[in-house]
Amino acid sequence: MKRRAEATSAPLQGVKRRCDDSSSDDESEISRKGIQNDSLSDQEDHRPGFSMPSISSFDDAQDTDSPTQTSSKFSMYNSVSQKLMAKMGFREGEGLGKFGQGRKEIVEASTQRGRRGLGLMLQGFQGELNVDWRDEPEPSAMEKVDWFPECTTETPDADELRDWMTLGILCLSDVQSVFDDLEGEEMRRARTRSNPYETIRGGIFLNRAAMKMANIDHCFDHMFTNPKDSQGKPLTKDREGELLYFGDVCAGPGGFSEYVLWKRRWHAKGFGMTLKGPCDFKLEDFFAAPSELFEPYYGEGGVDGDGDITRPENMTAFRNFVLENTERRGLHFLMADGGFSVEGQENIQEILSKQLLLCQFLTAVSTLRTGGHFVCKTFDLFTPFSVGLVYLLYLCFDRISLFKPLTSRPANSERYIVCRGLKPGSDAVREYMFKVNLKLNQLKSTDRDVTEVVPLNIIKDDTDFYHFMVNSNER
Ligand SMILES: C[S@@+](CC[C@H](N)C(=O)[O-])C[C@H]1O[C@@H](n2cnc3c(N)ncnc32)[C@H](O)[C@@H]1O
Repeated sequence: MKRRAEATSAPLQGVKRRCDDSSSDDESEISRKGIQNDSLSDQEDHRPGFSMPSISSFDDAQDTDSPTQTSSKFSMYNSVSQKLMAKMGFREGEGLGKFGQGRKEIVEASTQRGRRGLGLMLQGFQGELNVDWRDEPEPSAMEKVDWFPECTTETPDADELRDWMTLGILCLSDVQSVFDDLEGEEMRRARTRSNPYETIRGGIFLNRAAMKMANIDHCFDHMFTNPKDSQGKPLTKDREGELLYFGDVCAGPGGFSEYVLWKRRWHAKGFGMTLKGPCDFKLEDFFAAPSELFEPYYGEGGVDGDGDITRPENMTAFRNFVLENTERRGLHFLMADGGFSVEGQENIQEILSKQLLLCQFLTAVSTLRTGGHFVCKTFDLFTPFSVGLVYLLYLCFDRISLFKPLTSRPANSERYIVCRGLKPGSDAVREYMFKVNLKLNQLKSTDRDVTEVVPLNIIKDDTDFYHFMVNSNER
């Protein structure tokens, strides 16, 4: 509606837009056709014109700078609508009845949505959105990778890490947003409409997640499915039967692994751990690749375990399982995509998922070989706890990056942390993360919580990291 109103009050801009845009825009096409038909029928039909002189002909209607027109409350309607209204006998200030009686105001379009009560106005959604669409950046399918600056600080040892953990009071206070008042269906529709890539769904794979991993792998020069050494030579020699070892945690039903197996054919071997239950692996649904080279494991108890990554026994069991099956060398790369439903609590998703994030990071430093890569889903990264976790990875890997693939819905806070090249000597950080997880489990039914894993002053003193993190959050 706003675009149209502006086109009427600024006709030159409207005309220019049409010329610039060589692709035919449906709306303007219709109105052009409408104008032609209308002016033709006008020649045949000489019924009384619209009561406002400035719009009595199409040419006059173009001159919308005239004070009569802009001051009229009907000027928001384009000339075609105004002419149609005039033909039907409408005169400003009069009703449509034979004697000018009846309703004088135009009947408004219904704004009632779904099962919302008639006339209910949602806070933050009333009135026109003040958006100037013409200033929106052109959508682009180019994806740019931004690495954090290289870390020059040494990986900390056990002595340094001893006092880094800070405990505080558990804080789950919700942050309200205007979207909280929308019904689930409305929110889902808006989310779908805001994602230009919604309809690609899973492509040849079992789900959308697989497409995201394909997207990430592509943007990072296939560093996952075709890792290279410092000279740019592939790390695994397929012809000599060398396998690419990968892990996939918080991973059911397994789309990420399906993509990797499709890309590598038979030259890869995967190990996965995910929660048992409805979201377990569905290897029988792998459409694009064979699942024989993928081995699910559920932590303590093996196939009988529960697959919960936050349980320390499962973490240790999974680490041992991976080391035993990779000649004690570890994985070339690990993928982690943990998430659970936070319906109605989306605003505190970051806080609700903090232990999951920690445990996924811990799995990386526990199972990767030196030089190995890691990709993991994150949500908002605003709290000192989350930023501290990112800082720990920054210390342990050659380079890290925060990346939102185009295949990830623009309307959510999901981003992936991509880490390249695990440095040697990250054992102390692994042991430290393990301890933080023990503490989180210990504090579970209390009102206390781990609030920081790296003191804020250490993060702020590392200005390269700090500024990059702040900028990334503000984007
Ligand atoms: C978004 S799905 C992963 C999709 C997957 N990457 C794929 O490609 O199909 C999130 C997964 O995290 C799992 N998850 C959530 N909490 C977990 C936990 N504590 N331990 C292990 N897995 C967990 C869920 O069960 C679910 O399978």
